[in-house]
Amino acid sequence: MRFLFVSNSDSASAWQKALQQARPDITTMVYPQIGDPALIDYALAWRPPSGLLASLPNLKLIFSIGAGVDGLVDDPTYPRDIPLVRMVEWGLTEGMTDYVVWQVLSWHRQAVLYWRDQQAKRWKPRHRKVARERTVGILGLGVLGQDAAIKLAGLRFRVLGWSRNEKQVPDVECFHGEAGLVQVAAQSEILVCLLPLTNETVGILNRDLFAQMPKGACLINAARGRHLVEEDLLAALDSGQLSGASLDVFHDEPLPNDHPFWDRPELVITPHDASLTSPRTATQSIVDAIALCEAGKPVPNLVDFERGY
Ligand code: NAP
Ligand code: GLV
Repeated sequence: MRFLFVSNSDSASAWQKALQQARPDITTMVYPQIGDPALIDYALAWRPPSGLLASLPNLKLIFSIGAGVDGLVDDPTYPRDIPLVRMVEWGLTEGMTDYVVWQVLSWHRQAVLYWRDQQAKRWKPRHRKVARERTVGILGLGVLGQDAAIKLAGLRFRVLGWSRNEKQVPDVECFHGEAGLVQVAAQSEILVCLLPLTNETVGILNRDLFAQMPKGACLINAARGRHLVEEDLLAALDSGQLSGASLDVFHDEPLPNDHPFWDRPELVITPHDASLTSPRTATQSIVDAIALCEAGKPVPNLVDFERGY
């Protein structure tokens, strides 16, 4: 059985080794050394060159290295007749929850202000709310959003969640649809975006949404750069409507040197590594899906191309 790995990351040999260990009958080819395209059964891909996947005539399944599949399905040549499995694995989920909890606690406890005080050798105790008095909204109650929401609720934050369909999540007040978004935005002192990037969600973090949020609220975007209208964020920071944001994802990555975000003290910038898929934690989910596919059984976490996620 032949497996193709295609990504510009430096993790190819780690994937080869992990897949070989889990399924010794798998030969992993690393793009651009693909051999005979007709022999490739499965592909594991992150932003593959346009047309590559469509040129493999006997593919049975495509695995996205990321939870987000926009980098695959936005390519007009993407072969929509081949099932696409989005990445769901415990390391990716727990890594994202660590990031969200880290950033929520940082804004809740005003970490940026303490850092500035320390730089200025300023001793300034502050009165503030405790977690149960702070409302955190999570846009996207999927695999990542739910895990983060449940952990934040466990820390006693009041947690609101927003999804497309109606949902019930323990200790989380759930909202859905357009009206639900207004209710979540209006109450969220810290708003976290964990939505997939689709036609419906592109540009959702914009001036209209910020205007509905409580004055001085904070934003955390760990989903995709194109969810955010970047100039609207700068305007909201200038006016004080938002007091800060944590951004892990950007329109252009790496964030260009001359981008105004770099110079804003109200922003916490990380390099699209809020959470990363690792062969150490993800290989089992891939070989499990291959086994189901071989047995002719339904494979979980398939992308719905109509919905876009
Ligand atoms: P998921 O399980 O597919 O969940 C997506 C959630 O978004 C679902 O709750 C879905 O609602 C909701 N949603 C989608 N479209 C919506 C709409 N129009 N209105 C309201 N809610 C909508 O995805 P996931 O695994 O949690 O991943 C989420 C995203 O995180 C990925 O797509 C990726 O872009 C991003 N990500 C970023 C990093 C990073 O390092 N920065 C790492 C991993 C993932 P329903 O439940 O009703 O379907
Ligand atoms: C990372 O951005 C992912 O989608 O997993």
